[in-house]
Amino acid sequence: MYRIVSAIFLAENIKKFEIEAPMIAKKRKAGQFVIVRVESNGERVPLTIADSDPEKGTITIIVQGAGKSTRELNRKEAGDSIADVVGPLGTPSHIENFGTAVSIGGGVGTAIAYPTAKALKEAGNYVITINGARTKELVLLEDEMKACSDEAYITTDDGSYGYNGFVTQKLQELIDSGKKIDFVLAIGPIPMMKAVADVTRPHGIKTVVSLNPIMIDGTGMCGGCRVTVNNEIKFACIDGPEFDAHQVDFKNLADRNRIYQHEEKEAGDAFEHACKLHGQG
Ligand code: NAD
Ligand code: FES
Repeated sequence: MYRIVSAIFLAENIKKFEIEAPMIAKKRKAGQFVIVRVESNGERVPLTIADSDPEKGTITIIVQGAGKSTRELNRKEAGDSIADVVGPLGTPSHIENFGTAVSIGGGVGTAIAYPTAKALKEAGNYVITINGARTKELVLLEDEMKACSDEAYITTDDGSYGYNGFVTQKLQELIDSGKKIDFVLAIGPIPMMKAVADVTRPHGIKTVVSLNPIMIDGTGMCGGCRVTVNNEIKFACIDGPEFDAHQVDFKNLADRNRIYQHEEKEAGDAFEHACKLHGQG
C-alpha cells in the first residue's frame, strides 16, 4: 500500500496528491508516469508524475476526476492509502539546451508540462510558459510555472484572467512578434496539441506533444496504447509518451480514445449512484 501524505483540491474536480513512493521518487525523470490502482481489484490508471521529493520519498500527481477510477481516487484524503503505484514508466523527456523553449500547458495538461518546463529551465533554456484554462478558477500551478519561467503567460478562454484567448493565439502572437523560438512542448487536450502543431509547422519549430491514449499494462505488452506517428505504429507507454507533434496522427488518437466512451460513462454513472446511496454525495 502507498500512503497519501497530502491531498488538496487545486480546482473543482482536480486534486493534487503527494504519495509515499521512495523508490519512484529517487528514480523518476521529467516526462515519466506511474500506473495507479486505487483498490487492488481496480482499473489501472496512468498518471504523469508532476513532481517528486527524493529526500522525503514522495511523488506528486495531479488528478482530474473524469471516470470512475479517477473520481474514486479524488475521494481519498491524507492518511488514506492507494493499493498500487507502479513506475516510473515511459521514456523521459528529451532535455537539452535548445535556446528558447516554450512550454504550453492546456488545462490539466499543465501538470504534465510543469516537470518538463522545470527540467528545460535547469538545462539552461530561456523558458517561456503559456498556461491556458477555460476560466480563472481552472488555472493550475501558476506559481510553480512562474518559478521556472523567464516569461510566463496565463490565458483564459473567457478572458476572466490573463490573456483572453486560446494558448495557440498567444503562441501565434509571440511568433508574429519576431521572437526566435527553438523548441515547443505542448500538453493538453488533443485539439489543443493538434492546433499547436499547426501553428509551429509552417515555421519549422521543433514541437513535442505528450500523448494520452488508453493504457493497460504500461510496459509495451498489451498494445492498448498504440498511436500512429510518422505512419508507424508506436506504443506510447514505452516509445513515448512524448512524440514529434508534426508526425502524430491526432485523428487516430482521438478515435481510439473514444472506443470505450459508453462503458466509461456507464461505470462513472454507476459509481456516482452508489456514492449517493451511501450518503457520500
Ligand atoms: P480544456 O478543454 O479546458 O482546455 C485547456 C486549454 O487548451 C484551453 O484553455 C485552450 O487554451 C486550449 N485549447 C483547448 N482546445 C483548443 C483548440 N481547439 N485549439 C487551441 N487551443 C485549445 O482542457 P481540460 O478540460 O483541462 O482537459 C481535458 C482533456 O485533456 C481531457 O480529454 C484529457 O484527457 C486531456 N488531457 C491530456 C493530457 C495529455 O497527456 N496530453 C493530459 C491531461 C489531460
Ligand atoms: Fe500496453 Fe502500452 S499500455 S502496450
